[in-house]
Amino acid sequence: MADKPAVLVARKVFPEVIERLAQHFDVEDNPEDHIHTPAELAQRLQGKVGAFITLSERIDAALLDAQPQLRAVCNMAVGYNNIDVAACTARGVLVSNTPDVLTETTADFGFALMMATARRITESERFLREGRWDRWAYDMFAGTDVHGATLGILGMGRIGQGIARRGALGFGMKVAYHNRSRLPADQEGPINARWVDKETLLRESDHLVVVVPYSAATHHAIGAAELAQMKPTATLTNIARGGVVDDAALAQALAEGRIAAAGLDVFEGEPQVHPELLARRNVVLTPHIASASVATRRAMADLAADNLIAALTGGTPPTAVNP
Ligand code: DGY
Repeated sequence: MADKPAVLVARKVFPEVIERLAQHFDVEDNPEDHIHTPAELAQRLQGKVGAFITLSERIDAALLDAQPQLRAVCNMAVGYNNIDVAACTARGVLVSNTPDVLTETTADFGFALMMATARRITESERFLREGRWDRWAYDMFAGTDVHGATLGILGMGRIGQGIARRGALGFGMKVAYHNRSRLPADQEGPINARWVDKETLLRESDHLVVVVPYSAATHHAIGAAELAQMKPTATLTNIARGGVVDDAALAQALAEGRIAAAGLDVFEGEPQVHPELLARRNVVLTPHIASASVATRRAMADLAADNLIAALTGGTPPTAVNP
């Protein structure tokens, strides 16, 4: 029997997924979950025709040029700003991502993070655990209402729409959104969503949730100038990517009381977090876990595996980015 094609699974994933891949491929996996430097990644990709990767691996033109045998790069994430797709396409390398399977789980989390931020849940929990709770007080951890407020969404893709649905149908929120393209009327209608320009979105939102993919065009889409246009009582939640929000400008805006609070699941330079964000009490910080339910992470891994198997066995990858 001919040798199986060799693939790299760059991070630790479900053993069942490794077993499935091993039926088709000679798999080099990473059970220690070592985070590879670019040089280590290049070294481990030698001789591999496929790569199952996550957002911690960067695939760029230089790496591709050193690995001309590589045919498929399958990301276990919906976002793929870690991959130079144009460079892959130019070299005939298929790129895939994992849309849809994580939409509802990620929208759940975005909504939860926004609520935790507005209602000061983690801040008040820390206070209680520190043994500082000695009385009821009329203004203790008084936050901002979510029900009936204006929910602003920057980036109205599948996840943005999921958050909008939760806000409109579950909490009676007024939904305003800004996106490159407007939703068709039959999608705006049921959630009463209103397309607005970015300035209006910033000015009107009580709770602004950022869900736009990261690219050169969205780098620092929320910076000092944008934060200055927001209400001083507003909250900002980022579940998109670090880099869409200028974290230094956000820390400054929070310090100066230009907005009330922030909920952040993603960071510029993560897993590093800006020290001034870490130091602020009115910021809810989570370690990039918006899609992390057990079922959804398994569905993402399965879909990335489906893509890799199809790409390398003559099938049609279900969610190719550059088919
Ligand atoms: C995604 O899918 O892009 C998430 O950020 C990874 O969890």
